[in-house]
Amino acid sequence: MSARIEANGLEDVVAATTRLSDVDGEHGKLVLAGHSVEDIAGHVPFEDALFLLFRGTLPDAAERASVRDALGEAREAAFERLGELGDALALPDAMDALRASVAHLGARSGEEPLAEAIRIVGAIAVFAAAWSRGASPVRPDARLSHAADYLRMVSGRAPSAAQVAALDAYLVTVVDHGMNASTFTARVVASTASDTVSAVVAAIGALKGKLHGGAPGPVLDMLDAIGSADAARDWVSQALARGERIMGMGHRVYRVRDPRAFVLERAIAGLEAASDAGSSIGQRLRLARAVEKEAETQLVARHPNRPLKANVEFYTAVLLEAVGLPRTLFTPTFAASRAAGWCAHVEEQRRHGRLIRPKSRYTDAAPFAAPAPAAR
Ligand code: COA
Repeated sequence: MSARIEANGLEDVVAATTRLSDVDGEHGKLVLAGHSVEDIAGHVPFEDALFLLFRGTLPDAAERASVRDALGEAREAAFERLGELGDALALPDAMDALRASVAHLGARSGEEPLAEAIRIVGAIAVFAAAWSRGASPVRPDARLSHAADYLRMVSGRAPSAAQVAALDAYLVTVVDHGMNASTFTARVVASTASDTVSAVVAAIGALKGKLHGGAPGPVLDMLDAIGSADAARDWVSQALARGERIMGMGHRVYRVRDPRAFVLERAIAGLEAASDAGSSIGQRLRLARAVEKEAETQLVARHPNRPLKANVEFYTAVLLEAVGLPRTLFTPTFAASRAAGWCAHVEEQRRHGRLIRPKSRYTDAAPFAAPAPAAR
């Protein structure tokens, strides 16, 4: 008989084997299908990361072009369906709108897994951008890369090469990350032999929460509220005294600084270098670094045995703002990339997994002993 493991939050429970990514929380290493995150993020476009998850190698030029073309077609197809989404895109919260609009995508039996992922990933970018534009969505341009077209569909303007490069770095960085809550959610749904769209819809719901993908908007709110580096100390100590969590700090797995924070910082610095002298990006980056330092110092003092350092969301907030995305789109943009990881995990789960069905421990009273029925 197997040993009973009880873990509130399931940490240390291995729920799947995967070749998609490996998170080493002690040493702060993230491997994406055989590549260190810092070796590919900032060096290859999102199309390559998507291909990598499904095929296990980085694409050659022809393969990259075919993913790019297929994503362009998927964006166009999704745009044609905008009129059929009912009031999904009128929902005030972007993640509610994304969840409702993705739910309109049909399951197609027998669809090739990479093609299915491309269909879903392409649609997410279009639905998120269309939500942000309200009554005037921008038609996709299938000739552009996914990152470039996403920025264009949101802003209505052609993005700079530096903005596209920074967004690509972000999308590659967050494409997959072990058994995080939304990926686990997708796997649970897939394990019941349900379809990929259902798994993605459920995962969007999990990603929405501020303990997972909902943190970067609040990180920016925090930076706005702090305003300048010299106000960081008081602001952080007052927030902690009120019992609040500092958004963008701490992680379930990492006991050192999240390696993705380094990669994103590097991408922001690249964008700053390519920007006009008067750009606010450098100022924001300096403020973020000062707040991170202060938060880390105060969190060490409060939790000497529990390292709480910057996670991916801290610099996500700075990067997504720097490429010109509104903060309401931060979590949908996370979903636009992570959906590739969800779909790849769904495929793995289907091939190798069993129904995921843990136990619970009942703590309430035993049933009342029913009185014996009266003899007739
Ligand atoms: N700010 C202040 N305190 C924090 C904290 C934060 N960001 N993160 C954790 N803590 C504290 C908890 O209050 C808890 O203190 P206690 O033992 O006195 O109760 C302790 O550290 C352990 O926290 P716990 O809830 O067990 O950690 P977890 O592994 O369940 O949580 C996160 C991980 C990410 C949910 C958590 O660090 C967090 O809420 N961070 C802020 C939200 C965020 O940035 N989310 C994005 C994650 S990528």
